[in-house]
Amino acid sequence: MLRSQKWLAGDDEVSVAHRVALRSVGLTIEPGDERPVIGIADSSSELNPCNLPLRKLADAAHAGILSAGGLPVRFPTMSLGEDLMKPSAFLYRNLLAMEIEEMLRSNPLDGIVLLANCDKTVPATLMGAASANLPAIAVLGGARPVSVFRGKKIGTGTDLWRAWEDRRAGRLTESGWAEFEACLSCGVGACNTMGTASTMALMTEALGMALPGASTSPSGSEESLREAHAAGVRAVELVRQDIRPRDIMTLKAFENAVTVLHAIGGSTNAVIHLPAIAGRLGLKLGLVRMSQLGEGVPVLADVEPSGTMLIHDFHEAGGLPVLARELNEHLNLDEASVSGLTLRDIIANAGERGTAIRTVTNPLFANGSFSVVSGSLAPDGAVIKTSAATASLFTHTGPALVFDNYDDMRARIDDPELNVTAETVLVLKGCGPVGVPGMPEWGMIPIPAKLAAAGVTDMVRVSDSRMSGTSFGTVFLHVAPEAAVGGPIAFVRDGDLIAVNIESGSLDLLISPEEFTTRRAAWVRPVSAHLRGWPALYEKHVTQAPEGCDFDFLQAPTPEKLVFVEP
Ligand code: FES
Ligand code: MG
Repeated sequence: MLRSQKWLAGDDEVSVAHRVALRSVGLTIEPGDERPVIGIADSSSELNPCNLPLRKLADAAHAGILSAGGLPVRFPTMSLGEDLMKPSAFLYRNLLAMEIEEMLRSNPLDGIVLLANCDKTVPATLMGAASANLPAIAVLGGARPVSVFRGKKIGTGTDLWRAWEDRRAGRLTESGWAEFEACLSCGVGACNTMGTASTMALMTEALGMALPGASTSPSGSEESLREAHAAGVRAVELVRQDIRPRDIMTLKAFENAVTVLHAIGGSTNAVIHLPAIAGRLGLKLGLVRMSQLGEGVPVLADVEPSGTMLIHDFHEAGGLPVLARELNEHLNLDEASVSGLTLRDIIANAGERGTAIRTVTNPLFANGSFSVVSGSLAPDGAVIKTSAATASLFTHTGPALVFDNYDDMRARIDDPELNVTAETVLVLKGCGPVGVPGMPEWGMIPIPAKLAAAGVTDMVRVSDSRMSGTSFGTVFLHVAPEAAVGGPIAFVRDGDLIAVNIESGSLDLLISPEEFTTRRAAWVRPVSAHLRGWPALYEKHVTQAPEGCDFDFLQAPTPEKLVFVEP
């Protein structure tokens, strides 16, 4: 029996009220009606231009559900826009995940089409769907059109950060900077580089939760409309076949996703989101394991910031099916997907390869795109995107210059008197999941103006915060435990030597054990300004980065009887 029938099938006054509620929104349901009710979770919003293409896709999914004999019901969800939400959309990822889970739990839905695009909306919907475990399929909104500045294509994020460095170093004039801004507004959709949104869209497809090739279809394209329609059809079929997120998102599927993450030079944010989604299914995806999965994996996606092209080029090059074919010996090919095809079938149907996807014999990098380090400065680990860093800095020892928080960093970074050389290790602390709270993307500390003007383009940076998937540089991120909970990064002082070695996987603070003990004893937990509301709840329950920054009470799988709550 369909889950929705528990609401809709009876002949008592309560069932009548349920049927009338749906008839009032245009869905006529007679007793004995066995059409599955499919929700469309729509996160489009004018506060989030990245997700606006979802409006048309929701219509297409709606039509697809109807054509397959389902009953579509569209509902709004909160929308997490990376550009506007402060201190970070990440602060609200768990809130959207809870919203999705509870909307599915509490309503007469048999299945769900999840509409997401901007960075945090994608993992949030997968987390919620994993917990609710009703048949689900994801539809992504696609990347925005490409803008052009002085004849050159501009990739979102990456080229803004580069232009800002040029501006700060005096290479771009005031009028040039204004001209650059005017070029940037090119339409709605996600960042068109390998930022977190494109990365998480590809993770969704690699996990098997989106249709083959659909995760990179350009925003507003005919192709994306067709795929959204097909997703609506598949949602109905998934209900009839009783295929659920737990059948699709297996540990092997997560291994595929991590392997693809390495091969696309994907965002480090995925290293947080994937364990969070896995945790909802009772699966453990540790940092070391994720790093190991990159061993021998070639980086094949020639897309900014690791490469040179954009997501549209990657899509034209054949998208994930072609990338997976190149990568096939590293993948678990028997994994199922919401399309009904295994990865092996998907590869067999893949098209021709274009230049934005390299071959295994000619990769961008040979050995994965990110590494995990640990040591006395990061006992529980830190992450570095090696494919967007400078190889000559992979082994480095230098004196620390410490910023206590983001405001401190912004206030001093361009001070001509700043005691800094290219050898200095810049440390930004107090910006972890508990610290701000919400772990903003502040880790890519700008090169101090006086060094930038002298031609320095990269330095070793260490932080307990994250960075945008569009960012680059030799930046050690997600240092755990973070400063706000007393991790060793809290004790670093100006002038302390910090040693990094990516090859041996170490990140160490070179002070004596006695000194370390003295500093730890003197440490006082910072007093939080957040006494109420979501930030207060967040600080209390958020886990550290290696566990995915989910809430401690959301990590376990939901017992079946709670998913099938009696109305
Ligand atoms: Fe929304 Fe990049 S800011 S996708
Ligand atoms: Mg981003």
